[in-house]
Amino acid sequence: MNGKIPHIVQYQGSKRILAPQILQYMPQKINRLIEPFSGMAAISIATAYENRANCFWINDLNEPLVNLLKEAIENPKRLVEDYSVVWNEQFSYGENHVQHFYDVRERFNNGDEKPANMLYLLARCVKGAVRYGKTGNFNQSPDKRRHGTNPKTLEKNVYAISYLLNGKTVFSAVDYHDVLEMAKPGDLVYMDPPYQGVTNARDSRYFAGVPFGEFVQTIEMLNQKGVDYLISYDGTCGEKNYGEELPKSLNCKKVMLNAGVSSQALLLGEKAITFEALYVSKELVPIFDMQPQQLSFLEAMA
Ligand SMILES: C[S@@+](CC[C@H](N)C(=O)[O-])C[C@H]1O[C@@H](n2cnc3c(N)ncnc32)[C@H](O)[C@@H]1O
Repeated sequence: MNGKIPHIVQYQGSKRILAPQILQYMPQKINRLIEPFSGMAAISIATAYENRANCFWINDLNEPLVNLLKEAIENPKRLVEDYSVVWNEQFSYGENHVQHFYDVRERFNNGDEKPANMLYLLARCVKGAVRYGKTGNFNQSPDKRRHGTNPKTLEKNVYAISYLLNGKTVFSAVDYHDVLEMAKPGDLVYMDPPYQGVTNARDSRYFAGVPFGEFVQTIEMLNQKGVDYLISYDGTCGEKNYGEELPKSLNCKKVMLNAGVSSQALLLGEKAITFEALYVSKELVPIFDMQPQQLSFLEAMA
């Protein structure tokens, strides 16, 4: 399914490639899918593509990012038109088109955070990696070899995503705790916090890491409420382990997903495969522990 799932723009840490593996651990039918750390919402998009959830809640602390998703879903035509204007402007700079990125970045940092500006910065910056400086300014550099996604390519994807999610999605840009406090039994929560040690979102203090202890406590709260969840949480590449394990007391099942050969390792001339951990809450485990015949029996009964 991967090649066909629409996506708007590259985003560092996106789960687009892993989505088919992650979806295997979700129930076939979900009432509400909540993504508290949505990024570019690859998992909500893939779940909608498979028509498995009735409604969605997309949240990320990065407000301009959420506004971009909301605009793509609710106003695809306006987003594509506005983006075309920003994108085409770079050609009036001739050889010096990189300067255009810096000009848009400055506009954005001076308060013009309109979705088309955010989209252009994401489409042109190095590795789609959003970085903010100490004062909260977007400070990532441009990828000098690229012009950013062509509006024509973008148009197809934006309309496809809008078709999948419009009318079924609510949006917010708050800290993940506030979202999880409102989650109820019957929801499915997919969490993809920033890699441990990486802080690339902004909040009122400009940086938002997700401290390990606090995160574990919040998951305990979900266990107590009886809310089902999946968590992508760091991984291994060759001999290296990234991040701390989630504690056994949470009663989750940990599975390792094959994320392919890491580009970092390739640069070093190695071919180490990266594995990413997915923690699955206790109540979901029987679903994927079932044999395929049992599953098709259940689906036939549904
Ligand atoms: C690894 S990325 C998620 C990528 C996403 N799964 C995708 O496919 O695009 C983690 C996201 O968490 C957001 N974030 C960081 N701290 C947060 C917090 N305290 N509450 C909510 N979101 C936060 C970041 O802005 C970032 O977009």
